[in-house]
Amino acid sequence: MSVAVFPESIEVESFAADLRSGLRTDGQRTLPSKYLYDEVGSALFEVICVLPEYGLTRADTRLLIRHAPSWVSQLPSKTCVAELGSGSSKKTRLILEALAQRQETTFFPIDISRAALAQCARELGDIPNLSVSGLHMEYLPGLHEAKARRQKKGPLLVLFLGSTIGNFARDAGERFLRSVREQLSPGDFMLLSSDLVKSEAELVLAYDDVAGVTAAFDKNVLARINRELDADFDLARFAHEARWNREARRVEMHLVARTDMTVHIRRAQLTVELAAGESIKTEDSYKFETGEIRDVAQRCGFRCAEQWIDSEWAFAQSLLVAE
Ligand code: AVI
Repeated sequence: MSVAVFPESIEVESFAADLRSGLRTDGQRTLPSKYLYDEVGSALFEVICVLPEYGLTRADTRLLIRHAPSWVSQLPSKTCVAELGSGSSKKTRLILEALAQRQETTFFPIDISRAALAQCARELGDIPNLSVSGLHMEYLPGLHEAKARRQKKGPLLVLFLGSTIGNFARDAGERFLRSVREQLSPGDFMLLSSDLVKSEAELVLAYDDVAGVTAAFDKNVLARINRELDADFDLARFAHEARWNREARRVEMHLVARTDMTVHIRRAQLTVELAAGESIKTEDSYKFETGEIRDVAQRCGFRCAEQWIDSEWAFAQSLLVAE
């Protein structure tokens, strides 16, 4: 196996600029959810994936165990794989092992977390016939790089697992799928996972587990700002909350101020005044209706060749083909 990681770092200045715009006082304060995933956040997310309350990852894995051997065996030879978000190597392994049994395979995990890329390379390192080239980049530039670097003239299979599409606003998710399609050629594939609407009780528990792992994951973003941007958030003065927004069909994660406070974020030249009860929204996790993904995919230039729904946790995997 060969491993490469490219390029070096994501700018402190763009982190600071995102804070300045997200923590403004007009309306709901927000932080882009990508900042949840530093080394600590990525490790906590791995734990979330095995929590009893968080059924998404197990559903995704069950669908791969049940169906991937068959559809992977039908992929054209020389298929090369790119994954948006390097994800859980356990899931990706199910696809890569099946493919690498048939052919020399190149895999491009694309992730903004170096820790996640390093873990992915470590965990997939024992698969014979597999070469892993980690791309430390945002998704679309990473996909562009993967297309440019792929050696063989075979199709590309893009993996977008774990319902990460749900972390985009609906219109932005559709624009994103269209941008992915623009980078692909007819006959390329995309495997897209999406979490489906279920009861409010199940959804809120999935994002506010009893062990408090999701709360720690959420609050870590404040600790990260303290570490990287010389800020003084007092984490004990925030409560994690998961809220189901029925109209928008999304779970929202909020960090709610328990008291009035003033926070200094020195490297962003920013002072934030928060009133007790005010929240910072740190993530939206949109949920889908069955059939919605087919329609969106079609509007973006894909045909949905197959779709599988898990029977234990309402969750879909769709195999899309670029038209
Ligand atoms: C990565 N993403 C799909 C997760 C989700 O379910 O929206 C992130 C997450 N946030 C809290 N728990 C998991």
